[in-house]
Amino acid sequence: MGTAVKLLGTGSFVPERVLTNADFERMVDTSDEWIMSRTGIRERHVLSDGEKNSDMAVQAGYNALQAAHIAPEDVDHIIVCTFTPDMLVPNCACVVQSRLDAVNAGAVDINAACTGFISGLTHGAALVGSGQARRVLVIASEVLSRVTDYQDRGTCVLFGDGAGAAVLGSGDGGHAIGDFFLRADGSNPEALWIPAGGSNLPASANTVAERLHFIKMNGREVFKFAVTRMIELIEGAAERAGIKPGDIDLVVPHQVNQRIIQAAVERLGMREEQFYCNLEWYGNTSAASAAIALDEAVRKGRVKAGNTVVLVAFGGGFTWGSTTIKW
Ligand code: UT7
Repeated sequence: MGTAVKLLGTGSFVPERVLTNADFERMVDTSDEWIMSRTGIRERHVLSDGEKNSDMAVQAGYNALQAAHIAPEDVDHIIVCTFTPDMLVPNCACVVQSRLDAVNAGAVDINAACTGFISGLTHGAALVGSGQARRVLVIASEVLSRVTDYQDRGTCVLFGDGAGAAVLGSGDGGHAIGDFFLRADGSNPEALWIPAGGSNLPASANTVAERLHFIKMNGREVFKFAVTRMIELIEGAAERAGIKPGDIDLVVPHQVNQRIIQAAVERLGMREEQFYCNLEWYGNTSAASAAIALDEAVRKGRVKAGNTVVLVAFGGGFTWGSTTIKW
């Protein structure tokens, strides 16, 4: 038996600048009506020139430490979940470590696309549960605006920037977190990918001209995958908790598309109010989305003592996962 792992606090941060559907009407051939009816997204926050991923990660991490009443020097490990770090080396977690002055912490980045936050929580909890760390700061932070093709109407309206964070630890206080479930299927990478900029296809004048540094996605395929996996994840989490999906107090899903969430609600016979949704105001912020939603749900008093809260996410890779928090 390992050490019981607790969620000690959450935090989040989104940049000030907002892109509305009206802004997209001026950029590509689209309409507020299409975006609202097909996605449920009204606005997204995006970084301004000169701002960077680590600025958001630091702020979200700081807010989570404040909520958990943990000093930076008491953090043993920092995990930043992102596929849009400031640069490839050093990793984003090292930038955060330095700016938070977390002088006793190790630092690593995790890339599991939209499943990043749940993957980060899983790996952070493994460190706490095995006794290798007492306090782990897990931050999910993404700047999708810097890898979005604002000439591609099929993807550009979906994405936003933001960061969410959680502090994991052991001992008294906090909320029990567990039942970590992670899966991947890497057999179809091109369903959602950024072809260039890695070591396989390094940046060149050609890759830039062909716009290969932007997200490419087969929207319909990802949609079907997302609905199937979300249903499986919720059913699995409920079964392992010995309850029915209808008995879950709050599902905090990856904020991908209102229609995807609606499809899961209907097929599982659940109620809409069992799901915390804020994608209308932030769009899809990939790894950060479930982290921002969890922090907002906590701050808005949507989570109460005794509640069973299930986090679910799915995304590029493909990757998918869930975890359950007993509040
Ligand atoms: O975190 C995982 C990331 N992935 C996602 O968030 C994506 C999941 N997929 C989706 O959310 C949906 O597939 C989309 C919102 C991307 C697209 O919705 P859809 O209902 O699957 O539309 P579609 O791709 O089947 O396209 C329907 C039509 C097409 O026109 P034609 O071929 O029927 O004439 C598209 O060209 O809608 C057109 N379209 C647009 N029209 C106006 C695509 N994007 C837009 C747009 N504005 N922004």
